[in-house]
Amino acid sequence: MKTRALRNIALSALSLAGVTAMAQSTEHDYVLDFKDTGIDIQPTMYGIFFEDINFAADGGLYAEMIKNRSFEFTLPLMGWEQPNSDRHSFNKQSGYANIVTTKEGTNHNTARITVRDDKGYSLINEGFRGMGIKAGAKYDLSLMVANEDGGIKKIIFQLIDEKGTVLGETSVSPQGADWKKYETVLTPSKTEAKAKLKITFEGTGVVNVDMISLFPQDTWKGRKGGMRKDLVQKLYDLNPGFLRFPGGCIVEGRVLERRYQWKKTVGPAEDREILVNRWNTEFDHRPTPDYFQSFGIGFFEYFQLSEDLGAEPLPILSCGMACQFNTGELVPMDELDPYVQDAIDLIQFANGDTSTSWGKVRESMGHPEPFNLKYIGVGNEQWGPDYIERYKAFAKAIKDEYPDIIIVSGSGPFPDGEYFDYGWEELKKLDAEIVDEHYYNTPEWFKENATRYDAYDREGPKVFAGEYAAQSVAIASPENRNNWECALSEAAFMTGLERNADVVYLTSYAPLFAHAEGWQWTPDLIWFNNLESYATPNYYVQQMYGNNPGTDLITITEKKEPITGQDGMFATAVVDKNTKEVIIKIVNTSEHAQETDIKVRGKKLATKGTMTILGNDKLESENGFDMENIAPKTSEFELKSRKMEVEIPAYSFVILKVKIS
Ligand code: AHR
Repeated sequence: MKTRALRNIALSALSLAGVTAMAQSTEHDYVLDFKDTGIDIQPTMYGIFFEDINFAADGGLYAEMIKNRSFEFTLPLMGWEQPNSDRHSFNKQSGYANIVTTKEGTNHNTARITVRDDKGYSLINEGFRGMGIKAGAKYDLSLMVANEDGGIKKIIFQLIDEKGTVLGETSVSPQGADWKKYETVLTPSKTEAKAKLKITFEGTGVVNVDMISLFPQDTWKGRKGGMRKDLVQKLYDLNPGFLRFPGGCIVEGRVLERRYQWKKTVGPAEDREILVNRWNTEFDHRPTPDYFQSFGIGFFEYFQLSEDLGAEPLPILSCGMACQFNTGELVPMDELDPYVQDAIDLIQFANGDTSTSWGKVRESMGHPEPFNLKYIGVGNEQWGPDYIERYKAFAKAIKDEYPDIIIVSGSGPFPDGEYFDYGWEELKKLDAEIVDEHYYNTPEWFKENATRYDAYDREGPKVFAGEYAAQSVAIASPENRNNWECALSEAAFMTGLERNADVVYLTSYAPLFAHAEGWQWTPDLIWFNNLESYATPNYYVQQMYGNNPGTDLITITEKKEPITGQDGMFATAVVDKNTKEVIIKIVNTSEHAQETDIKVRGKKLATKGTMTILGNDKLESENGFDMENIAPKTSEFELKSRKMEVEIPAYSFVILKVKIS
């Protein structure tokens, strides 16, 4: 074993990345061969999985700041306080709110406010663990009002901090007994992470209010009532090949009645029927009884988001089975038709022209052009014969009407075992096109499974690695951390996904988002609070893969063998035909820096390339709101006559990129 004095270690980048090259080193001779493998990397290879878990939609991506804006939660005043309304003494009440059902349809509840004196009766909305407001930014406030007896002269809106200090104020003067929409703007004087909205009624009398809404004007693409800009930006920066939505178990519901029904999520936002979020009390360790789905982000918005991100939309639909970890409620086969029809209609909603009934709905929402849907998922992670029976009915109906739509089926919640084997066997017999696999497991499992797909049948269904994440403690443990050990093991595992790109067509980490104070499940790719967000080490792994997918697989070997964990090293290589570059991904999971020579066969390369390093010498390191311990750093390195000589730091994920001459 010899040690070289001069080695491309991109020292400045390393120290920036917080990586220490340990003294002990191993030498590797790798061979990069440009011989055509005939394996394309699918443009969908690295995508994202979105589910409304951990306040990912309401309280997260959806920029609405008022919780329970239409008083439709199971407890209709949840999220609202009435400081001047003593429930125990009528005499001490300046006023009170009753919930009345004044309207037909989905949004039927109204807050009927009775103001008895001029002592300042008010309603306060607490937001989603507070409201994040920024000094000088503009916030659109709107509400529906019916001033029943004309006694209320003014409604005052104030953004207040935890001590009640007013940070911004505006008002409207309600006119007339009929329902009318009022709009105004609030501009806070101070940035505050835990603001609330206080609404005070001037005058005495009875007034009805509904759909009280507050949105930042500065949303993604400036859309009114749109999405949080910083969060969508983080998704955009992943360069995702697809967007899977809306889940996850949320698709299935704990009972069928509470499954996700896309038709209830399109059309005017105020008409979308509120549904309790299935994650609200799922885990004793993180109860969030105030977690509901307003569907402000519904299927139209998911399609639009996919378009914004340049990602293929991948909707997953209920197949008539509620979550098998909960009730496993089944729709009888002779009542399955409406479920199947939902799938057929969804394809029309996405792709049908504007003369079709669902195409018209899409047009009415501002998108006459089709969304060009290519994939549809049947069921989330169902298992057993009941699933196969229902899958068959869906597949037949979809293919009869839309033969080009690619159907994604599922192999259950586990990466192996009885359910998994049964599902795969049956789906193979049925010539399924793409099978979704889920694995939440230890970092060790991820490293050991870098060869998982080497032996998969090349003639069988393709794989969608639809949900995966290394768990530092155990599945669903609230102690799980988004630490570097987990992220590094995912990077290692992903070399195996890429090396098997003839079998693996789509992949996504899960879950995607978590509100720092409202989460149920950890680990998650992106954490946020009401003002900020941060990228985990796992995010950067996804980002490095997503931005360097390449187009064609080539081989990188050591002693003619793929690099799948020898000395803790994992590697894969691709060519990007568009940028005319070779991209090599190397993961060093060992505690030693490893000197590595890469001989190049079959092409001439430029004399310089870039080396991007993601690393940290402490496996327990994490990122946070105020700390970025692990982030990619890029520098240049030089090649020596048909050879790269690089040092791969301990505990690092490295991407080498060189132009092909
Ligand atoms: O990602 C969290 C959950 O894990 C998903 O909803 C479900 O599909 C899986 O069991």
